[in-house]
Amino acid sequence: MAPRVLVVGSINMDLIVQCRRVPEQGETIHGQALHTAPGGKGANQAVACSRLRASTTMVGRVGEDEFGPKLRAGLASDGVDVHAVPVDREAPSGVALILLEEGAHNRIIVIKGANARLGEEDIAAAVPILRNVDAVVMPLEVPLPVVKAIAAQARAAGVRSVLDAGPATPDAVAAGLPALVDVISPNQTEAEAFTAMPVRDVPGAHKAARRLHEMGARDVVLKLGEEGCYWVGNDGEEHAPAFAIEPVDTTAAGDAFTGCLAVSLAQGMAMPEAIHRANAAGALACLGFGAQPSMPTAEALDSFLQQRAG
Ligand code: RIB
Repeated sequence: MAPRVLVVGSINMDLIVQCRRVPEQGETIHGQALHTAPGGKGANQAVACSRLRASTTMVGRVGEDEFGPKLRAGLASDGVDVHAVPVDREAPSGVALILLEEGAHNRIIVIKGANARLGEEDIAAAVPILRNVDAVVMPLEVPLPVVKAIAAQARAAGVRSVLDAGPATPDAVAAGLPALVDVISPNQTEAEAFTAMPVRDVPGAHKAARRLHEMGARDVVLKLGEEGCYWVGNDGEEHAPAFAIEPVDTTAAGDAFTGCLAVSLAQGMAMPEAIHRANAAGALACLGFGAQPSMPTAEALDSFLQQRAG
């Protein structure tokens, strides 16, 4: 049976500005191109899970604007169950402005829009779904009370919760989230925010991951980009190096990683195998342009892992 995953999170339209470099303050420069692509950490993770053959349901909101129906339909065409993704008449859809520099690195500004309006109704919609899944995945681009309520419901129902710790706002950092979830997966800057420790290299990641584990998370999987990831958990710890690739666009590599991690764990894999596969999913997401368009399929993931094993 396919693993079942619920994603409670954000849905954005990404406006991607390709530029050689980002401008200095007060400077005007020419960019190379403007693209739009569906994104939002939650929606990206839902698409990642669905393409990896998990039966995936999303709880989130889009706005009643030109983006909303497209974002919702895009998720549905990727096999994500969107019955709990209403069109919110009171807010525009979430939008992310992504500056994509040469070298495939990005800087992202998110305008929350309808994502900020998730609340009691969405929690009520999520709870019956939650009771029938193997894992729930949440990023921090929706209101903190929703994340905390879903984490508590997941714990009560014995369902594994996976928190993508971005963006690490001061409120999120102060909320004691590591103790409320089973798996927390921050990137370097998020881990620095949560621990107030520098995470510039693998030894720094090791220390920060241990600190997050002491703060209560059962498993900490710290995403390190080109360095792979560092796992510290109740059953062990390990640095899993990244796969060598030539990245085109690193946007949403972390979402592919988190989605794959959740699906692999829901399939019953042990953490070392799950993080190996998640590293591969993150690498594959860097080879394509845009967030959701670059989420890998199960076939692509298996064939990449086979090639790299040889
Ligand atoms: O993680 C990448 C995502 O962050 C983008 O798709 C953007 O929408 C922001 O949510």
